[in-house]
Amino acid sequence: MTKVLAFVSIKGGVGKTTLALETAAALVKHFDKKVLLVDANFSAPNIGLYLDLTEENTLHHALDGTLLHNAIYESHGIDVVPASMYYDGEVDIFKLKKILSKYRSRYDYIILDSSPNYEELKPVIAAADRIFLVTSPDNMTLKTTLKAAKIAREENTPIEGIIVNRIRSPKHEQSLEEIERISEIPVLARIKDHKVMAQAINEKTPITFLDETNVIAKEIKRFASAICGTPEEEGFFQRLLGLRSNVQKERINREFLRQGFYRSD
Ligand SMILES: Nc1ncnc2c1ncn2[C@@H]1O[C@H](COP(=O)(O)OP(=O)(O)OP(=O)(O)O)[C@@H](O)[C@H]1O
Ligand SMILES: [Mg+2]
Repeated sequence: MTKVLAFVSIKGGVGKTTLALETAAALVKHFDKKVLLVDANFSAPNIGLYLDLTEENTLHHALDGTLLHNAIYESHGIDVVPASMYYDGEVDIFKLKKILSKYRSRYDYIILDSSPNYEELKPVIAAADRIFLVTSPDNMTLKTTLKAAKIAREENTPIEGIIVNRIRSPKHEQSLEEIERISEIPVLARIKDHKVMAQAINEKTPITFLDETNVIAKEIKRFASAICGTPEEEGFFQRLLGLRSNVQKERINREFLRQGFYRSD
């Protein structure tokens, strides 16, 4: 059964678009899944720019009555629906759920990128089956991100976990345990801040396709494996680190995700 998954935060620039795109790329590349990636950042969409797609037909057109089918473009094996940076006309963003419902049977996963804007986030959370919060490891961002958790609870959309992105200096940042204590939500992946992401943007290619051996690509792959219930591959160093259980807490969380993801189906 198709899962509609949204990557959300009320803070801008934390990596929602990056993680939505990379997760879609990993599901396609490593797990042979059929994925529809939808840019549901209605006012400042980025996926079309990121993948160099035309904006001739977009999610906005679909929300305005055109068939969504016309707004689907293929990129790196992912079916992508971009949105319009500028759109003449009013659209009802709460139609998102209804529009996507017709496509559920055609995909393994529908992945939604979202806006940090509170009002724009509501229809995305309402359209999603599960959400992943994205934060960077500082208190300000985490607290802001948790506002999105509040909307999810109001909408009764389950929060599967947090992805901690853009880790630069763990010594000076919130620890994974601290983040879990404050949020009461499990951390599912921790992703370093890495200069290679600039290259990925410059080359308009997900890092998963640019360099699957990169540390970010590997963590995304592990996260994607949990979503599709596939066992995590263990490298030599991981096995070694596994002996220090606190270092691998997010792996345990992913194991719960892996085992529980289909529980409500
Ligand atoms: N792990 C990372 N390492 C280095 N750069 C990163 C990382 N994650 C994201 N970035 C960069 O940070 C910038 C913002 O990322 P992104 O666009 O994914 O954030 P966003 O949450 O979608 O922002 P917005 O709220 O504006 O939509 C981009 O330039 C992206 O390449
Ligand atoms: Mg974005």
